[in-house]
Amino acid sequence: MTPFETTQAALRAAPRTWLITGVAGFIGSNLLETLLKLDQRVVGLDNFATGHQRNLDEVRGLVSPEQWTRFRFIEGDIRVLEDCQRACREVDYVLHQAALGSVPRSVADPITTNAANITGFLNMLVAARDAQVKRFVYAASSSTYGDHPGLPKVEDVIGKPLSPYAVTKYVNELYADVFGKTYGLQSIGLRYFNVFGPRQDPDGAYAAVIPKWTAAMIGNEPIHINGDGKTSRDFCFIENVIQANLLSATVQDKAACNQVYNVAVGGRTTLLQLFAAIQEALAAEDISYRQQPLHRDFRAGDVRHSQAAIGKAESLLGYAPRYALADGIKLAMPWYIRRLKSC
Ligand SMILES: NC(=O)c1ccc[n+]([C@@H]2O[C@H](COP(=O)([O-])OP(=O)(O)OC[C@H]3O[C@@H](n4cnc5c(N)ncnc54)[C@H](O)[C@@H]3O)[C@@H](O)[C@H]2O)c1
Repeated sequence: MTPFETTQAALRAAPRTWLITGVAGFIGSNLLETLLKLDQRVVGLDNFATGHQRNLDEVRGLVSPEQWTRFRFIEGDIRVLEDCQRACREVDYVLHQAALGSVPRSVADPITTNAANITGFLNMLVAARDAQVKRFVYAASSSTYGDHPGLPKVEDVIGKPLSPYAVTKYVNELYADVFGKTYGLQSIGLRYFNVFGPRQDPDGAYAAVIPKWTAAMIGNEPIHINGDGKTSRDFCFIENVIQANLLSATVQDKAACNQVYNVAVGGRTTLLQLFAAIQEALAAEDISYRQQPLHRDFRAGDVRHSQAAIGKAESLLGYAPRYALADGIKLAMPWYIRRLKSC
């Protein structure tokens, strides 16, 4: 059995109580689905800033009625300490996903991003510490590599942040580290690299590139590429991210704790290649998109290239990503087609 299979079997045999913050969002609702399917008890916290009730409703339809009874939702805000305290009560593991994502959103409104991503994060650390949770796993970000040009990105070599969002995610790591040293809180930070998959929001000005382009292709609308199209990313399918979270919460080796890990595949795909991959996956679903992408200026705050070294997560967590970009795109397309055709 792989470490992930062993973890899943152990959780089924001895269910735990989990808190997922940001549970109505893309990553949070996917974590919820997996944990409920493993018969876990889950508390979810969200203020619907960017998440949706429809994500929770969808998960409800994908699990059994009995599994759904093990979920308790708290509508609340991580910027409010009491909400965090209420959510952390009697919880074994915290998977902290709530934050305001998006580099451009943070450039447009750094104060609101700071409040959710730094004040909210600190509130969650304090609440988790006081509730004596077993472990605090949190969503960090590849944006922490900032202006460092080295590739692939290795966890302990970072540059200066290029956006307010990147600052907040780096501050999260610093705070988690200090809470480990000062209060003994066990934490693990997962630096996600461009996650994608079902329930990632295709709507709004701050949509991520894969849902945004998929929606445009399904709607036969023009696609804009920021820059020359050679900008590259290590796109990571949601199932790999779920695996990393569950392994991080349960890994026994103390040396693996109070660390940060890259969570990606270790690949590098340019925007032009991504365009072709989505086009091909939609063609397999009988949706043909014949327009050429339109190029416009590079976007402020974006890094040029991103590719993860995943050796640290492999060796200390037993992480083994099972889905490459093409696999994930293929699996995600039917969901987007259903979602966008029903609008
Ligand atoms: N998706 C990616 O590619 C990616 C990459 C790197 C890091 N991350 C991080 O992963 C986490 C989850 O991202 P996602 O893609 O699922 O985004 P998302 O916007 O779909 O989910 C975030 C959730 O947090 C909730 N939230 C925001 N502010 C809140 C607050 N003050 N109180 C309570 N809930 C609040 C939102 O309503 C939403 O449901 C975030 O921390 C994000 O920064 C994501």
